[in-house]
Amino acid sequence: MERKARRNPGWAMAVSFLLLQGVPAQPPASAHSGGEPIEKSLTVPTDVGKLLARACANCHSDRTVYPWYAKVAPVSWMIERDVQQARQAMNLSNWTQTSGESSGREIGTLLSACASIQAGIMPPPAYRTMHPEARLSRQEIADFCAWTSSATRELQLTASHQEDSSPR
Ligand code: HEC
Repeated sequence: MERKARRNPGWAMAVSFLLLQGVPAQPPASAHSGGEPIEKSLTVPTDVGKLLARACANCHSDRTVYPWYAKVAPVSWMIERDVQQARQAMNLSNWTQTSGESSGREIGTLLSACASIQAGIMPPPAYRTMHPEARLSRQEIADFCAWTSSATRELQLTASHQEDSSPR
């Protein structure tokens, strides 16, 4: 019996694969990490909100919907790590305690979001392959970047206004 198992690596592999499934990924991200969503801080037009929800929120918010293959180790560990890093970089559900914490940081995130989409880095190419809904047209990208630049301008104006009126 033992010998047979050794001669048949398929068996051993299948068993290890099943055992892997019991190994938890990093502790699952908390359902809500605190703070207020992006809409609390910025005016988000309906179209922009829809784009963010459809192409970004799966990684960049507390509302991740995992596909079936995200439950299969070791893919599950990779996806979990990706989502953790994505939320650290930009969390649409918790904007006020992260990017929205200062206007400088907020401007940085907006500029980086537009640049990342234009460069085709965001949403990541591998994700776009699996999620057709996350593919963006040229027009959608242009509209998104028009919004980030007008939001940036507004933030800069408010910031300089605050500077002017602050006591010296
Ligand atoms: C499959 C998951 C995933 C999706 C979908 C996704 N991102 Fe990301 N994003 C990441 C990860 C992971 C990082 C962190 C990369 C790192 O730290 O190296 C990141 C980083 C970023 C950053 C920070 C870049 C910087 O300057 O450090 C921005 C901005 C960003 N993403 C915007 C977006 C936008 C906008 C969308 C939707 C159009 C989007 N992302 C969709 C996974 C994703």
